[in-house]
Amino acid sequence: MSDPVAFDKVSLLRLAFKGLSDDELQEMATVTHLSAYPPDHVLCHEGAYEDIFYILADGNAVTTKHISEEEGERVLRMAGRGDFFGEMALIQNAPRSATVRTTTDCTVLEMGKKDFETMLSRSPRMAISIIRSTLDRMRANDQMAIQDLQRTNKILRQLDRNKLEFIQVAAHELRTPLTVLKGYVNVLRSFPEIKTNATLNEVIGGINKGAERMHEVVNMMLDVTRIDSETLKLVAVPVPLRSMINDIARDFAKSAEERTIVVNIDHDPETPNINGDPTLIQKAIYHLIINAIKYTPDGGTVTIRTRPITMERNTAGVEISVRDSGIGLDAEHHELVFEKFYQVGDVAIHSSGKTKFKGGGPGLGLAIVKGVARAHNGKVWVESLGHDEVNFPGSCFYLHLPIHPSQS
Ligand code: CMP
Repeated sequence: MSDPVAFDKVSLLRLAFKGLSDDELQEMATVTHLSAYPPDHVLCHEGAYEDIFYILADGNAVTTKHISEEEGERVLRMAGRGDFFGEMALIQNAPRSATVRTTTDCTVLEMGKKDFETMLSRSPRMAISIIRSTLDRMRANDQMAIQDLQRTNKILRQLDRNKLEFIQVAAHELRTPLTVLKGYVNVLRSFPEIKTNATLNEVIGGINKGAERMHEVVNMMLDVTRIDSETLKLVAVPVPLRSMINDIARDFAKSAEERTIVVNIDHDPETPNINGDPTLIQKAIYHLIINAIKYTPDGGTVTIRTRPITMERNTAGVEISVRDSGIGLDAEHHELVFEKFYQVGDVAIHSSGKTKFKGGGPGLGLAIVKGVARAHNGKVWVESLGHDEVNFPGSCFYLHLPIHPSQS
């Protein structure tokens, strides 16, 4: 559309950019041209590379931003006479940060990128005026992103609580029938006709083994809910860490031997005893060692080390590391393996059996370790060069626990 002679560009520009001299406004007017658009016309397309700067002369427009597939578009602002937009992409040489759409018949002043840049370099007052608005808009966009994150976090926390409640209810509901089942198995065992029948004995043994395994899973579910609940109160007592580790490793000696896995223990003589909840710490170390055995092929090595360390804020602590020569773990799983029920790889191809190579499990062991670490103001993480079932790069899990959890 050609500029109507009567249109007073300078008055509009004065409204948009306060404090500019008449000369500056005049110069700006000469590098803009007037256009008209119908309602629902998109002036700026979010994500597109475009190079026009707009000043709204008449009508209204709405600025929106795409949030997600589910949430769709969010309205950022309604624009009216004297508002300008489209400056962010031009200044940054970046795609449009939002979509601007006319909501009524609109008349706009348009300025091309080159002229926009020339004006910015010639008129510091215009530059400052634009920078001010742009910074305001960026702050508004930041604020919106933060609010979105806060909302999503709240939802995730609620979902996590729901998951915990479900685990707790399921575990309690399973425990009673399991106890009944185990009781009846014991009754059956005492019958002479079963005692003397090898086949029936084997069947009963199988049922009992299955029930035991289920009991362990149910107990793990209860451990997770207890450890994960924010109300866990830690009663710290002295924990003989080195002998505890030796005992746990001894319990695994038979399973490791069956799979020709060598379990090494290497305690730094300076490793101090720590204070904490012995039952929880025992569980954490148990899960680290059983995982190491599970994900190491026959003939491999598991090395458990302890050493004194200085933790964050200069507090004294110990490091327990469990290194294996197993299948390793890709970086994308390094944090997620500590989440409840997280399984790496195809669950269906996991073998059954507690210490069998790649033996299955409910995916709760490392969540328990993380909960124990957190309850003691410690931390746990894994280092591994990646998953490789040919070269077996192995993984190393580190558990840091302070000597005095309450002081850290
Ligand atoms: P640009 O990124 O070039 O294209 C889309 C325009 O929308 C952008 O420049 C700004 O002019 C405008 N914009 C971006 N965020 C906001 C916001 N929070 N409030 C108002 N306008 C905005």
